[in-house]
Amino acid sequence: MFHVEKMEVDDFPFAVQLANTMNWNMTLEDFEFMVKIEPQGCFVLFQDQEHLGIANSVSFGKTGWFGNLIVKETVRREGAGNLLTKHAIAYLRNKGVESIGLYAYPHLVTFYESFGFEADIDFLVLKGKAAFPPTQEMLRAANSQDVPEIIDFDCQCFGANRKKLLEPILLNKNNLCYIANENSEITGYVAAKVYDKMVEVGPLMCHANHAKEAVLLLETILSKLNGVEVFMYIPKKETDLLNVLHKAGLKEDFRVVRMFLGPAIAKNCICAAESLERG
Ligand SMILES: CC(C)(COP(=O)(O)OP(=O)(O)OC[C@H]1O[C@@H](n2cnc3c(N)ncnc32)[C@H](O)[C@@H]1OP(=O)(O)O)[C@@H](O)C(=O)NCCC(=O)NCCS
Repeated sequence: MFHVEKMEVDDFPFAVQLANTMNWNMTLEDFEFMVKIEPQGCFVLFQDQEHLGIANSVSFGKTGWFGNLIVKETVRREGAGNLLTKHAIAYLRNKGVESIGLYAYPHLVTFYESFGFEADIDFLVLKGKAAFPPTQEMLRAANSQDVPEIIDFDCQCFGANRKKLLEPILLNKNNLCYIANENSEITGYVAAKVYDKMVEVGPLMCHANHAKEAVLLLETILSKLNGVEVFMYIPKKETDLLNVLHKAGLKEDFRVVRMFLGPAIAKNCICAAESLERG
């Protein structure tokens, strides 16, 4: 019989090894971070003492995100994925979450529909070694004093307060963040998480009527990442941003479908994901 338990530090090596059978580039630090921001919301599936699967969830008030769902190949199609997904949904509901988002591989859209998730928009995963010329320095790097305002701005766009996720990212001196202003109000920001061997660009958030700033933000951050392997998760409809990424040498890797169980969020803004597992 399968059963689900809370993920503990001892489970991290299994989680990394399993996740990387899918080339998800996960590290022990990724799971440390997930458990730090949602200690009760990261799960391991067992049969007796044997580790067989994982899933992560995170709550931001009334919004939650689900990701990193994976089950060992040898026990697929035996109900394990179903159990992990139901467990995470119940956990988030219990936390008061009304809307749960996720990014699904296209062939798993029907799997998630069986829990009530509905397809929203397509996202593209782009990756590649960035090569982008320097831009005119019109946007400024954010500093620690900007962090509260960035979090408030992100909340307006995303529709939920992501302080527990964004604050550690924005205060980490290895990471990058640039902001666009109009009349001293933030109109957009972009952040990038700098790891040993690669950089994840995101979130990028702008009001829908500030598309030019979104392009400038992306150009600015890419121009600081020359020669680095960059990943970004971006709505397929954001063609101006895609053009910038193509110009920088990034290529489409695969497509995912953003899905929601409950009302869709982040509808009226330009929104590139922070990560596939956290929204
Ligand atoms: C997705 C995944 C977690 C499903 O786990 P699982 O334990 O095999 O799923 P279940 O046995 O609970 O499946 C329940 C139902 O979902 C559907 N389903 C499961 N896997 C599916 C697949 N690969 N394609 C289409 N439908 C699928 C089926 O309807 C299945 O019922 P059935 O076996 O009676 O037909 C597993 O395939 C996996 O680990 N895949 C690799 C990682 C991955 O893609 N994660 C998802 C990222 S979005």
